[in-house]
Amino acid sequence: MSASLATVSYLGATILFILCLGGLSNQETARRGNLYGMIGMTIAVLATVFGPRVATLGLPWIVGAMVIGGAIGVYLARVVKMTQMPELVAFMHSLVGLAACLVGFASYIDTSIAFTGAEKAIHEIEIYVGILIGAVTFSGSVIAFGKLSGKIGGKPMLLPGRHFINLIGLLIVIYFGYAFLHAETVDAGMLPLIVMTVVALLFGIHMVMAIGGADMPVVVSMLNSYSGWAAAATGFMLSNDLLIVTGALVGSSGAILSYIMCSAMNRNFISVIAGGFGSDGGSPAPKAAGAAAEPVGEVSPILAAETAEMLRDAKNVVIVPGYGMAVAQAQHTVFEITSYLREKGVNVRFAIHPVAGRMPGHMNVLLAEAKVPYDIVMEMDEINEDFPETDVVMVIGANDIVNPAAQEDPASPIAGMPVLEVWKARTSIVMKRSMASGYAGVDNPLFYKDNNRMLFGDAKKMLDEVLVSLKA
Ligand code: TAP
Repeated sequence: MSASLATVSYLGATILFILCLGGLSNQETARRGNLYGMIGMTIAVLATVFGPRVATLGLPWIVGAMVIGGAIGVYLARVVKMTQMPELVAFMHSLVGLAACLVGFASYIDTSIAFTGAEKAIHEIEIYVGILIGAVTFSGSVIAFGKLSGKIGGKPMLLPGRHFINLIGLLIVIYFGYAFLHAETVDAGMLPLIVMTVVALLFGIHMVMAIGGADMPVVVSMLNSYSGWAAAATGFMLSNDLLIVTGALVGSSGAILSYIMCSAMNRNFISVIAGGFGSDGGSPAPKAAGAAAEPVGEVSPILAAETAEMLRDAKNVVIVPGYGMAVAQAQHTVFEITSYLREKGVNVRFAIHPVAGRMPGHMNVLLAEAKVPYDIVMEMDEINEDFPETDVVMVIGANDIVNPAAQEDPASPIAGMPVLEVWKARTSIVMKRSMASGYAGVDNPLFYKDNNRMLFGDAKKMLDEVLVSLKA
């Protein structure tokens, strides 16, 4: 392939990647967006492998590696459960970080292109920064994978003087960066490069170990952003424009997503990075001395048959899905109940909180999979005002996102987090297995409100029972 054809292909791939991101911003166009991304990536890979910079001798190596990597990727994509997606994503980010490190070392050792003067300095800065970001991304993502898959505990590890330790690490990196840029030979530059890599690896581990379970999805999105910048740095090292653009797209979209997630949880981005918030998901709510008020009162259980009766009598129903619906894989039964009620003239809508579940868009994906029409799936801001006119709200395996303590209790760890105001409806029915807390590990006063009922049990099992009663 000629150099100009490769350049045109890169340009085409870049446009397709931008169209892909645009498409993914809306669920109606997401499928098309994905398709653009796949075509763009195929063009990019073909233009690189058969482009002017790969010698024929290298082809069997590249194709062999692609077949092995591709087979592992296909296998993982087929076996991974939807709820394990964040950990798979974290694992893949670690590979991007590792690749950036390896390419950085390879570019430094490769002396076939001799740079001089300012060009040499720029090339070496690219290598140093690329390996730095790559190493932080690699080790941070490995720890994030461990935490999300439960192999490492979710509790934040807070070393005494941890910010001071990070500062020392930063100073070491700057000092060795100076030594690296002033090294006369590759051998002399290798020691500073290796020391910096070790410090960056330790920093990545320390940074993510200090972050609690509740903030992990934000961290995954942040590491996604880092992996993009690592890829962009690799692009600079290899003088590959497509890699620079793609890395910048991933880096900036990851940063924007982290910001959106922080806002939806009312968390400050810096305090997420600084760590310390969140506990193991699903544990009993923490009883911090003198902290958040504990809910008082009794809970009123309800049976599936009574739930069905309430739904049948309602005019307006809102369904709030959460993490538990994903775990129970109840979305198909939810769809059947929705269709049945809509046929009977009940106005059924869905209320989606921006951080419901464990990853952005988690609920939208499940509902789309179950073929729930898009036009009845509402964002939090679109539906929050409608709860006072709602007869029945069915909360399916959601907890933190419907917790009134976020508004009512300034001492609550989730105080200020925007929530779905389901308690304003005539009746709310919460479907979950026990009184256990949600991901943030805080008690939920909603369960004790007079107009709330608890339908205890696995969401899929209970919804099946509701459907049977509805149709009876
Ligand atoms: P959670 O607050 O985690 O609550 C889920 C509830 O589902 C649990 O209380 C659990 O109670 C119940 N559950 C689990 N398995 C179930 C099953 N098989 N059947 C029925 N119920 C089941 O979930 P949420 O309300 O969706 O909130 C999401 C949380 O994740 C928030 O704290 C949010 O900040 C955090 N988070 C999300 C994201 C993204 S991007 N989505 C990002 C960062 C943080 P039982 O054990 O009693 O059944």
